[in-house]
Amino acid sequence: MKTTSPDHSKISPTAKLVAYFRQFSDIPFSRDVATLIHAEDVLKNFSQGTNLTPEFLKWAALAAEIRYKSIVSAIKKEGITQVLELASGLSFRGLAMTEDPEYIYVETDLPELMQEKQQILSRIISNHGLKERKNLFFDAVNILSFPEIESAIRHFKPNHPVAVIHEGLYHYLSMEEKERAARNIHSVLSRFGGAWITPDFLTNAEHEGRLQTHSELQNIAQGVQGTTQRDVHKTGFDNQQQIVDFFSHLGFRSRISPQIDGSYQLTAMQNLDISEDEFKNYKSLNFKIWILTVEE
Ligand SMILES: C[S@@+](CC[C@H](N)C(=O)[O-])C[C@H]1O[C@@H](n2cnc3c(N)ncnc32)[C@H](O)[C@@H]1O
Repeated sequence: MKTTSPDHSKISPTAKLVAYFRQFSDIPFSRDVATLIHAEDVLKNFSQGTNLTPEFLKWAALAAEIRYKSIVSAIKKEGITQVLELASGLSFRGLAMTEDPEYIYVETDLPELMQEKQQILSRIISNHGLKERKNLFFDAVNILSFPEIESAIRHFKPNHPVAVIHEGLYHYLSMEEKERAARNIHSVLSRFGGAWITPDFLTNAEHEGRLQTHSELQNIAQGVQGTTQRDVHKTGFDNQQQIVDFFSHLGFRSRISPQIDGSYQLTAMQNLDISEDEFKNYKSLNFKIWILTVEE
């Protein structure tokens, strides 16, 4: 299994999988996206014909809503109003957050994905009668390319902090790619100040623990590995200290907070009739948000 293939576009179809699970929440535009991309068919492809139980659907919908909302909440808690989202996939957090004119938001992903995203964006704009936003930008950026990142940050006000965020990307990267991506983000934060905010730094045990919750997840993980040609087990972190040390060596200071902190509403609970016990089981997995700043 190749883990260092430069063809990152093989990872792009996974954006549609996440978009499927987001539709059971009140995350803005998530239902439009799921309908427009026929997300149901995407899920069928990834699950390789396995029957998906309602319990699994509830779990995955919770995961998608919590991951999305915990990032929004962390950006707000940090008090940062300029956001560079890498690997934004078919999530439209920028379109949602720039309703507030205080924010400047740049949504980015690989070029092919961004082309598809532009078409979906046009449909959403027309469905919702949205006006043009002067504080929202869509750029093609590979996290490994500093020139592409540099071009995307031209939209920001100098001397104002930036939140660099991503969800669902970092575990696909090889160790060399992880380091390159981190150095690029370090350069952005050294220039603007701000924070790198992501739920993406999982230990192998956390990743394994997640897979063990539902057999369907293991089938989907196999489908994802086949499509992306990336074996996340070979490129994971052994433990939390290794994560802290890895980023410390690259000049970052790390903080960790729980993804579930009561700061936002979880609408999938009601929409999918999720019980308190099911929620407690999910919560016991203890997923985190990492907040990294540049060491002085
Ligand atoms: C699992 S999806 C997550 C998308 C989105 N963040 C979400 O939560 O819906 C992974 C995303 O990473 C993007 N990606 C893969 N390699 C990348 C790279 N080298 N630079 C930037 N984006 C990349 C893919 O195109 C895809 O959209």
